[in-house]
Amino acid sequence: MFRYANEGREANVNENAQTPMKGAVRDAMNEQIKHEFYSAYLYLSMAGSFETANLPGFARWMRKQSEEEREHAMKLFDFLLDRGEQVQLLPIDQPPSAFRSPLDTFEQALEHEKEITSRIHRLYEFAVQESDYPAQVLLHWFVEEQVEEEKAATEVVERLKLAGEDGAALLLVDKELGER
Ligand SMILES: [Fe+2]
Ligand SMILES: [Fe+2]
Repeated sequence: MFRYANEGREANVNENAQTPMKGAVRDAMNEQIKHEFYSAYLYLSMAGSFETANLPGFARWMRKQSEEEREHAMKLFDFLLDRGEQVQLLPIDQPPSAFRSPLDTFEQALEHEKEITSRIHRLYEFAVQESDYPAQVLLHWFVEEQVEEEKAATEVVERLKLAGEDGAALLLVDKELGER
């Protein structure tokens, strides 16, 4: 059945409808779609600033990261639709566009991933509290993914710290990251 924007959710719940999601899980997941798109936006902004700074490897890494974040958003988007829920896309905040250095950029990326990790954990807690088993299964993937995301960003931060002010070392890290 096609749902119109102003139609109440309750009107759709009938004996033929799917098992409805609990409001807390649905709303938090809907909210998380926005944060994943914001991540895509943030990394695209970082990619742009690296491109401008003639660091194509870092730029490529960030561009790929941005694409992955969009895929994360789409996983949640598709999940809500599969559950018979209506998705309400929320406005995405404007990301910063100026960054001080590659190290500063990747430190911000790492901080951002840590914040996303805590959001995913809270979302998982909601799914447990509401006994939403399909949501828990989906969120397992996100929990694992966040471990990888933090690990990847930390590795780059560590390498950039080692490179320090050495331009040649920085270009080497840039080259390596471009092979991602
Ligand atoms: Fe993500
Ligand atoms: Fe991420």
